[in-house]
Amino acid sequence: MCGIVGYLGSRDPQLVIVPGLKKLEYRGYDSAGIAVFNKGQVVRLRAEGKLKNLESKLEGQSFSGPIGIGHTRWATHGGPSEKNAHPHQAGSISLVHNGIIENYAELREELSTQGIILESDTDSEIVAHLINKKYQIYKDLFEAVRSVLPLLKGAFSIVVMSSERPDQLVAFKDGPPLILGLGEKEYFIVSDVAASLQFTKKYIYLEDREIVFVTQEGAKVFSSKGIELYPEVNTIEWSPDIVEKRGFSHFMLKEIYEQAQSVAQALSPHLSPDREHLYLNRVGFGCESLSQLDHLDLVKDHQMSDKIFKEIDRIIIVACGTSYYAGLMGQYLIERQSKVPVSVEVASEFRYRDPVLSKNTLFICISQSGETADTLAALRLAKQKGVKTLSICNVKQSTIDREAHGHLYINCGPEIGVASTKAFTSTLVLLNILSLNIALSRNQISVDKEKFYVKNLLQLPSQIEVVLSYDKYFADASEALRRFKGFLFMGRGTLYPIALEGALKMKELTYLHAEGYPAGEMKHGPLALIDENMAVVMLAPRDDLFEKTMSNLQEVRARGAKIISIGTGEDHELRHVSDRFLGLPHISPEIDPILAVVPLQLMAFHLAHSLGYDVDQPRNLAKSVTVE
Ligand code: M6R
Repeated sequence: MCGIVGYLGSRDPQLVIVPGLKKLEYRGYDSAGIAVFNKGQVVRLRAEGKLKNLESKLEGQSFSGPIGIGHTRWATHGGPSEKNAHPHQAGSISLVHNGIIENYAELREELSTQGIILESDTDSEIVAHLINKKYQIYKDLFEAVRSVLPLLKGAFSIVVMSSERPDQLVAFKDGPPLILGLGEKEYFIVSDVAASLQFTKKYIYLEDREIVFVTQEGAKVFSSKGIELYPEVNTIEWSPDIVEKRGFSHFMLKEIYEQAQSVAQALSPHLSPDREHLYLNRVGFGCESLSQLDHLDLVKDHQMSDKIFKEIDRIIIVACGTSYYAGLMGQYLIERQSKVPVSVEVASEFRYRDPVLSKNTLFICISQSGETADTLAALRLAKQKGVKTLSICNVKQSTIDREAHGHLYINCGPEIGVASTKAFTSTLVLLNILSLNIALSRNQISVDKEKFYVKNLLQLPSQIEVVLSYDKYFADASEALRRFKGFLFMGRGTLYPIALEGALKMKELTYLHAEGYPAGEMKHGPLALIDENMAVVMLAPRDDLFEKTMSNLQEVRARGAKIISIGTGEDHELRHVSDRFLGLPHISPEIDPILAVVPLQLMAFHLAHSLGYDVDQPRNLAKSVTVE
C-alpha cells in the first residue's frame, strides 16, 4: 500500500526519488518523506499529506548522493502525521517500509524493556531499531539486515541505508512487491516499475525472503541464508509516457476514455487470424515461463486447458472490490454458457473459512494489481488444497500472476486512478472469452454460436466510443446530482454486478452514501431509504427481465425517489417514467453490461469533480491493497 523508491548512482537522488514517488502516489498519500546522503551526511525531510507538501520542503535543495530512499505512505499503524512519516531512523539506520509487521506489539515491548523510546506510533520504526542494534554488533549492514529478517512476521518490503555506509543499500521483502531496476552503474529499488521506467527497462522481481545488496560495484541478490542467487532479468517494453495523463485532467478520465482501446487489447490475443473464432484455451496453463504470453506453446496450452475445462465440476472465483464484481458477472456468463456451477467469494472471507474444494474445482482469482493481500492468500490456500488455479491480472509478473498455475491478462496498460475503470471492462471481456472457452471445451456451444459471440465482442470498442460521446450529459447533470443525499443503483441479472460497481464508484469518489441492489430486493428492506432526496439509478436495458425491472422502478417512483434510468436506444416507455434517461446502444445480453458501466463511471467522476474532491486519489484509499 505504500510506495518505496531507493536509489544508488551518480545523479542527485532527489531527482530520481521524487519523480518516482509521484508515480507511486496511487499507493498511498497520507505522508511522504526522503532520506538522502549529502556531503557524507544523511538529510531527512518528511511532510504530512500529499507529495506536493514534501516537494515544497525540497524546493531549491540539491544533494550530492550517491544514495537516497523515499516513501509515500498509506497509514496502517499510527495516523497520518509527520512524526509517523517514513523514512524512520534509529542510530545510523534510515529505513522505508511498505506493509505490516504483525508481531510489532511483542517487538515493541521487547525494545521498551531495553530502554528504547520510539518517536512514532508505527510498526516500521521498530524494524529500524532492530537493524540498528544488530548493526552495532556486526558493523555490517547486510548481515545486520539478514539477522533481523527472521524476527519479523507479517507482510513487508523494506529498504535500508546507514549513515556510516554511503556506498550501500540493502532491501528485502516478504509479501508486497519490491523490484530491483538495473541501470548503467545506477540501481533503483521500487514498489512498481512505473517509478523508474524513465531510467531503466531492466528489472529483477524479488521473491519473498530474498535480500538485495547494492553497492557501486553492482547489485547482488541473496537468499535469507546468505547464498547468492542469480535471478532472471526482465525487460519491460512500456514507454515511460504510458504512466502520464496525456492531456487529460485526471488519470481516471484518461482511463475511462481508454476503454474503447483497452477492451480491444484484452480481446485481440484471443482472436484467430480471421477474427471469427477464439484461439482455443489460450490461458497459459501450458506456459513454462509464466506470463510470457507471446511465447506460449499454444498447442501445449490448448491441450492442458482443454483437459482442465473438461474435467472441472465446479468453479470458484475469488477477488476483492471491483474485481469481485467482475467475478459476479463471470458467474452469470459461465453458468449460462457452460453449465458449470460457479460461486463467487470475497477473498477476505474465503481465506478464513475452511472452504471445501474438490479435486475438480477450478479456482479463479481476479486482481488488477496482482498484489491484493487477501486475494493472494486465497490463491495460496487453494493451491495448498491441491486445486488448479487460474489468475486474471493486469500487472504481469505480479505475485498472483507468478504463483497461479494458469494466466489470463487484462492487458489494459497501467491503471493509475485509484478507482478502477478500464481494468473492470477488460476483465469482463476476458470473462466472456473464458466462458466461451469452457463452453467450447465442454461442447456446450456450437461453432456457429461461437462466431456469433465473437462478432458481438468485436462490436464493443466502437460502441464504447458511442457511450463515451454522452460524457457531456453527465458533466452537465453533475450540478443537478449534487443535491441528493444518496444513490441507490439497481439492476437485475447481469446488470446487478454493474449496479454494485456503479455504487462503489460513487461512494469511493463522492463520499456519498451509495448502494447497489438487485432490483427485486428493494421491498425486503431498502425501500425504507427512499424519499425525494434519494436518487435511484435504474439499469433497465430491453432484456428478458425488462418488465420486472419496470415494476421495481414504479415501486421506488411511487415512494418519491428521483429516477435516473439507463436503458436501450430511444426507449419512450422508460424515458416517460424517469427524471433523467440515457439510452445506450444494444449489442447482446453478455456485452451490454460492459457498455452500461461506462456512464456510471462518468457520473461518479463528474459529480466528485464538481464537489471538489480529488478524483484520482480519494481519501483513505490506496490502489494496491497489500495488507489485509
Ligand atoms: O488490484 P485488485 O483488483 O486486486 O484490487 C481490488 C480492489 O482493491 C479494487 O478493485 C478496489 O475496490 C478499487 N478501488 C475499486 O475502484
